[in-house]
Parts: sequence; C-alpha cells; structure tokens
Amino acid sequence: MINDHEPAAIEPVVYLNSEFVALQDAHISVLDRGFIFGDGVYEVIPTYSRKPFRLQHHLARLNNSLTAIHIKNPLNSVQWQQLIEQIIHKNTYEDQSVYLQITRGIAPRDHSFPHQEKPTIFIMTTPFEKQPPEIAKKGVHAISLPDNRWQNCHIKTISLLPNVLLRQQAFDKGAIEAILIREGEATEGATSNLFIILEDCLITPPKGPLLLPGITRDLIVELADKQNICLKEQAITEAELFNAQEIWLTSSTKEILPVTKLNDKIISNGKPGAHWHQMIDAYHSYIKKLCSKETRKSQ
Ligand SMILES: Cc1ncc(COP(=O)(O)O)c(C=O)c1O
Repeated sequence: MINDHEPAAIEPVVYLNSEFVALQDAHISVLDRGFIFGDGVYEVIPTYSRKPFRLQHHLARLNNSLTAIHIKNPLNSVQWQQLIEQIIHKNTYEDQSVYLQITRGIAPRDHSFPHQEKPTIFIMTTPFEKQPPEIAKKGVHAISLPDNRWQNCHIKTISLLPNVLLRQQAFDKGAIEAILIREGEATEGATSNLFIILEDCLITPPKGPLLLPGITRDLIVELADKQNICLKEQAITEAELFNAQEIWLTSSTKEILPVTKLNDKIISNGKPGAHWHQMIDAYHSYIKKLCSKETRKSQ
C-alpha cells in the first residue's frame, strides 16, 4: 500500500558510459570484463561540502592504475573533473563518497585483451558516513593476518577478492580491519594504510608494489612534516607493530582510525593516543580550510 505521507525516496543518479541515469536503470552486459575477470580499476574520492577532496591526487593514481593494466585513460583530467563535479551536483548529499570504476569493457570471454577496447566507465556516489563519536573515545579493534595478496598491491584494481576475504575474517572476529603481515613485516590494512607511533616517532611503510599508495597516507605525511612531527617511511616489523604506542589505519572514507586493540593486545591503554588526537585535529582543520578557501574562490 502506498503511504501518501511518506516523502518519495530520492533515487541516486549514476553515470554509465556517457549517460546520467537513475541507479536502478544502470545496466551493464554480463560480458563486461569487469564482471567476468575483475579486469578494471577504481577510485574512491571523498567529497566535503560537494568539493572533491585531493582530486588531482586521485586522478593521478587512477592514471597510474590504468597504465599498469594497459588501459588507455578514456578522459583527460579536466574531463574527469567536470564529470565528477556534475555527478556530485546531481545527488542530494553535501558530503559524498564518489566511486569511479573503469573496466576493459565488453568482449567475448578470452583472457587476452580484445583487439578493440571500449572501456566501461561507471561513477556513483553514496553519502559520506562521518566517524561515530565513540571512535574518539574507544578506538577500534583490528586483527593481524598473513598478507596473501598478489605482488601488485599498488594497483587499485577491482579484483578485490583477497581483500574481501581478509576483511571478512576480521569482521567474523568482531574486529573492523585486518592488518596484513608479509615476511615478518606489516604492510597495510585490507582496506587502509598503516601508521604506528614508536618512541614518539610516526612510522609508515614506504610506498612500493606491496601496498596501495593511499591519498590519505600522503596527506598525513605532509601534515606531519608541517607540524615537525618525527616521521619515518620505513618497514614496520611484526614485533614493532605489537610494541607500538599507537596504531592508526587511514583511508579516504575512514580518515584516521585509532586501533586500541590488536588481536588480544590492548594498545594505548585502550584509548586513542595523544598523537592521534593531534593528527585528527590537523586533518579536520586542513579539510575545513580547503573547503572555505574554495568557497571563497567560487563566490
Ligand atoms: C588496500 C588499501 N590500502 C589503502 C587504502 C587507503 O587509500 P586512500 O587513502 O587513497 O583511500 C585503501 C582504500 O581503499 C585500500 O583499499
């Protein structure tokens, strides 16, 4: 029965291959190589007050991912920017998370690349969920697991089955993330980058093929530098991870999450540490400043 008093739900608008359509009307072929092989790459761009955050960094990483899997970037950065701004303005929320995916397109099923490629471009946005206030009080629980992914983790590929299985193992143990260990060293989370505080110095593993070069990671490195915080980009051994004063997980949608329990070990007395408080304040001030600067520019 239709309830006349309930406002109609506003259908999200998505972009698929040159068209803006309602989410329910967006369809792709079952022969799309993204569906058949997971043959594609993606980006997630946070948007504050309808302004895409660190957009040029996301577009540069997108270009690197496309190059790594030999797909020609179908658009230049001005075209991407226009498209992303259009989709943000066609949707209702002020703060959104923009998901953008490019696959190698539709072709008869064959592992080798098709002779003529027409990439599929799909963009959608979802409301950006703010960190619940309990995070600042209690932090989160993570578990450590062997990093059983491939050797090209710097590519932001849609082939995410290992990450999906790792994160699910964390969820099944009541944790929110898996911190991955490869040959005795912690690389990153299943969906996030890793930082620790050891002897009052911030440490994050260096970029390379074994982890995704996170946009949030890079911003934290910049903010640490601006605030004269001791920062080292170096390997984190499993022992250092477990002896850390603080552990943080970072991503565009999680921002900076303080880990207060790792497996059964309580970290930072079970509360987010002083360094985390300092960095999350700096991170939020940076966002605020950037948004107000852009608002002034556009007035
Ligand atoms: C495996 C992995 N590492 C790191 C990150 C963090 O990247 P960013 O800060 O660009 O969101 C993500 C984000 O999805 C990820 O999936």
